[in-house]
Amino acid sequence: MTLPFHLGFFTSFAPDEWNGPLSSGGGAFADGRFYIDIARDLERACFDFILFEDSLAIPDAFGGSTDEYLREALVAPKHDPVPLSVAVGANTTRIGVAATMSTTYYAPFTLARVSSTVDSLLGGRFGWNMVTTSGDAVAANFGSKPLPPHDERYDRADEFVAAASALWNSWEPDAVILDHESGVYADPSKVHPVDFKGRWHQTKGPLNTVRSPQGRPVFIQAGASDRGRQFAADHAEVVVATARGIEGMKAYRTDIRRRMELAGRDPDSCKVLFLVTPIVGRTDEEAQAAYTAFMQTHRFQIDVLARLSAYTGHDLSVYDLDEPLPVIETEGSAGLLARLAQWGTGKTLRQCVIEMGFASDCIDLVGTADTIADTMVAAIDEIGGDGFLFGAPGFQPSRAHIAGLTEALVPALQRRGVVRTSYEFPTFRENLLAF
Ligand SMILES: Cc1cc2nc3c(=O)[nH]c(=O)nc-3n(C[C@H](O)[C@H](O)[C@H](O)COP(=O)(O)O)c2cc1C
Repeated sequence: MTLPFHLGFFTSFAPDEWNGPLSSGGGAFADGRFYIDIARDLERACFDFILFEDSLAIPDAFGGSTDEYLREALVAPKHDPVPLSVAVGANTTRIGVAATMSTTYYAPFTLARVSSTVDSLLGGRFGWNMVTTSGDAVAANFGSKPLPPHDERYDRADEFVAAASALWNSWEPDAVILDHESGVYADPSKVHPVDFKGRWHQTKGPLNTVRSPQGRPVFIQAGASDRGRQFAADHAEVVVATARGIEGMKAYRTDIRRRMELAGRDPDSCKVLFLVTPIVGRTDEEAQAAYTAFMQTHRFQIDVLARLSAYTGHDLSVYDLDEPLPVIETEGSAGLLARLAQWGTGKTLRQCVIEMGFASDCIDLVGTADTIADTMVAAIDEIGGDGFLFGAPGFQPSRAHIAGLTEALVPALQRRGVVRTSYEFPTFRENLLAF
């Protein structure tokens, strides 16, 4: 008997698919309507949450300028996910809504306050994707200081979480008494200063917002490195992962659970969700044809190379797509680059990009809803839990893609009794912990 599992949807506040094979003529994303609409569709399909990723600069790693990113709408434009979360929350009633905020570029007080405010506005449905941020282009937008080194960013993030948590806890649950007779709004003895003095963060407190329905947002994290996984195991309630293949997924989840036990946490209090991009068709052949057509698009191929340029710090725009990629040494994402290049096979760069497909996906899911549902169930049986985070092709969702998920794939999973058919609770965290 397969255990029930959780579903999330991963996207950004950026142009939807406006010019490709799955396009529905969108692209005018900035009023948020498209994302409100898809969140409502995802809610009808009982997804646990929609997650808006974020970054804080237009990269210039590909071709040494921001031109290609702007021309193809890659990584940019990207709008702030926090106000969008409010708009999505106002137009939904059950689905969790999560926004990405950086522990390096927010102050604990600002993040604690905005998260508390949004969680109250959403009736306890807000989540925070805790990222430490990478990329020199971002650092330059916040002044002249370079980005702190990778592991130190996580040390700072630990302290950040401690400071923000102290602020969230500065109001006891029953501090607001709203007593009309005595005329007392809040009981001063239940609102406490925090006097947090850390190495990097200091805050006096208390927070000047009332305690929100969940107390604090649901913590979501995506650590891949040893240090990042430890941070996830110490704090996260959802881990979103890009481990490759069933064995990789199983090993990743086992590692997070082991680390949680060592940290004195109940491993079932955190759900590990695996990133996948299902391409659903009426027949397996139709789905395969849609996948192949997508891989042939110029935008997809440039997207892969532009993102890899940003990850590796090596400008891949200088290589001919119709020649093999020469051997490149890199400090960053060397494994990913080797997986792309298939050195020694003589394959052209274009062929390699197409064969790599959706590089961050844990497993490939292309076929009918039933084919994909069976593959997902078999994967969860093997891994042990806890669910999947669905992405969109090329990070650009379309109405057609969402319909394939919500009107075909989720019903196929519901028929198998492996995903929810209604929300059990009003808050994001309670639904997450329901199974
Ligand atoms: C599904 C997923 C979503 C992510 N979202 C963001 C994001 O919105 N912003 C960001 O700066 N990094 C994001 N990341 C990067 C992670 O926070 C993390 O830095 C990355 O997985 C590498 O792990 P490490 O930090 O342990 O090296 C995401 C990663 C994954 C797998």
